[in-house]
Amino acid sequence: MADTPASTIPAAQLRLSVAPMMDWTDTHCRVFHRLLAPHARLYTEMVHANAVVLGDRTRLLAMDPVEHPVALQLGGSEPALLAQAARIGEAHGFDEINLNCGCPSDRVQAGRFGACLMREPVLVAESVAAMREACGVPVTVKCRLGVDDDHDFDRFLAFIDAVAAAGCGMFVVHARNAWLKGLSPKENREVPPLRYDWAYRLKQERPDLQVIVNGGIADFDEAAAHLAHVDGAMLGRAAYHDPYLLHRLDAAWFGGELRTRGALLRALQPYVEGELARGVYLKHITRHLLGLFSGERGGRAFRQVLSEGAHRPGADWSLVERALACTESTVYAA
Ligand SMILES: Cc1cc2nc3c(=O)[nH]c(=O)nc-3n(C[C@H](O)[C@H](O)[C@H](O)COP(=O)(O)O)c2cc1C
Repeated sequence: MADTPASTIPAAQLRLSVAPMMDWTDTHCRVFHRLLAPHARLYTEMVHANAVVLGDRTRLLAMDPVEHPVALQLGGSEPALLAQAARIGEAHGFDEINLNCGCPSDRVQAGRFGACLMREPVLVAESVAAMREACGVPVTVKCRLGVDDDHDFDRFLAFIDAVAAAGCGMFVVHARNAWLKGLSPKENREVPPLRYDWAYRLKQERPDLQVIVNGGIADFDEAAAHLAHVDGAMLGRAAYHDPYLLHRLDAAWFGGELRTRGALLRALQPYVEGELARGVYLKHITRHLLGLFSGERGGRAFRQVLSEGAHRPGADWSLVERALACTESTVYAA
């Protein structure tokens, strides 16, 4: 067990965060989200510790300096391997190492990591202790309330206590169970009922721990309501599909100026052109931008122009301008 107190993350950095999402929150996505939400805490997609240690780190750990504060999320359950991966993550500049104890996919269950770790508090504690010893940045955990038919708050609390005793001071609680049998990962984000009260009660009973609530937060008011009970709100799908929501939350909670969608998008131009010059395809960046005008006049045309044009050879910033013109055109003003 760790003999030093868990490092805490500055409170202001916890209020708003964007969830780790495989295939979605890559470095391009995070750069875009950073632009929209200068104060949000960002998370990578989950990377297995083994891949960090043995794989192509340039690709797997790609990160732009503007992303800070940004956490690397690891999957795995072998303390020594996780420790090595955490050390590498810190050396690559990540501000936090987060352990995934919430992913329910079959692949993850076969590898004995993700959500099934909710039933292995001792192993998670050993993993956290090893990671803490290996790196100087905060080691945190993202978990569920339990798996399958666990409905016992004390069991959840016992998991948290064991892991906290090993030096984890911050928990992201995806406030529903993971059902390991019979549900796809997608269904596991929708079907098991949400119980925000467990996350609130955790904060009440363990006020020294930093608690972030996650799961099903759909709009501005819902996100704001959580702040009365816990240290922060983590948004996943809502942030991805309606990224302007991130901007509105950041501006409201941190007092920034509310910029237009168009101005925010144009601020991304230097990044996009820099990436194109490095040989990145436009489509790899624009796929994350499709929801920017969601629900807005011209939003569908914006999405359509980008998705149809971005994969064409030679696609460049002019395509983004063309898409943007759909939202500015008077044709859509009617
Ligand atoms: C496409 C996708 C990929 C995800 N990948 C991860 C992941 O790599 N690690 C993780 O902890 N959670 C992952 N999640 C779960 C989210 O982090 C989050 O817990 C979940 O979507 C609930 O939050 P939301 O309702 O705000 O989306 C993923 C979710 C989605 C939609």
